[in-house]
Amino acid sequence: MTTFDLAMTDELLSTTRAVRKRLDLDRPVEQSVIRDCIDLSQQAPTGSNKQGWRWVVVTDVAKRQALADLYRQGADSYLGEAKQAAEKRGAAQDARVFDSAMYLAERFQDAPVHVIPCIEAGHIPADAPRRAWIGLGGSIFPAIWSFQLALRSRGLGSCLTTLHLAREAEASALLGIPENMVQIALLPVAYTKGTDFKPAKRPPIDDIIHWDHWDA
Ligand SMILES: Cc1cc2nc3c(=O)[nH]c(=O)nc-3n(C[C@H](O)[C@H](O)[C@H](O)COP(=O)(O)O)c2cc1C
Repeated sequence: MTTFDLAMTDELLSTTRAVRKRLDLDRPVEQSVIRDCIDLSQQAPTGSNKQGWRWVVVTDVAKRQALADLYRQGADSYLGEAKQAAEKRGAAQDARVFDSAMYLAERFQDAPVHVIPCIEAGHIPADAPRRAWIGLGGSIFPAIWSFQLALRSRGLGSCLTTLHLAREAEASALLGIPENMVQIALLPVAYTKGTDFKPAKRPPIDDIIHWDHWDA
């Protein structure tokens, strides 16, 4: 029987954060570590075992700059307004997230590696039922999270972002991504400054579980 070191496993699961300000933008990242983490991510589940994932890994400086510009076009008005709204309603954790997100938006091009997970979606018509889109996202997000966990266990960090998707077509043109592939996210990846991340505050567990019936 395989036994896991529960303390280590639970720490990995509870401290893998969206890392922005603590990405080490000056330290190079080896291609091999990205390969290993993507390799591990392929053990994630996919609907009908389709495994329709592809990963575009960008290290070229000019392309990172162009992606960062596209990200900012998607992010700019949204992040500033969201931070102000969070401050207004006294949501300190949210305000911190948006402050950190604004920092990332400024420095995005400096992350040594940009990773864009994509999934094949040529078979899904635009008016497909909701379950089809859930199945599509559900067939790549587990792999993305596995990739992020694998990074964390090796001393790297990342932040799952989606704001560049407002400019998905331009990013596809930049990187030659074919039309049948949907971009799902853009992750800046780097070694982290320190590795002592903490669990985040989340709602009490009994507020989100319904045993046997919604009202229970
Ligand atoms: C679907 C999705 C989209 C996200 N998009 C962005 C984004 O565009 N920019 C960003 O800085 N963070 C983005 N995030 C990261 C969240 O802000 C972050 O996960 C959340 O604040 C919780 O922080 P934690 O992961 O450290 O617990 C996204 C996360 C998810 C799951």
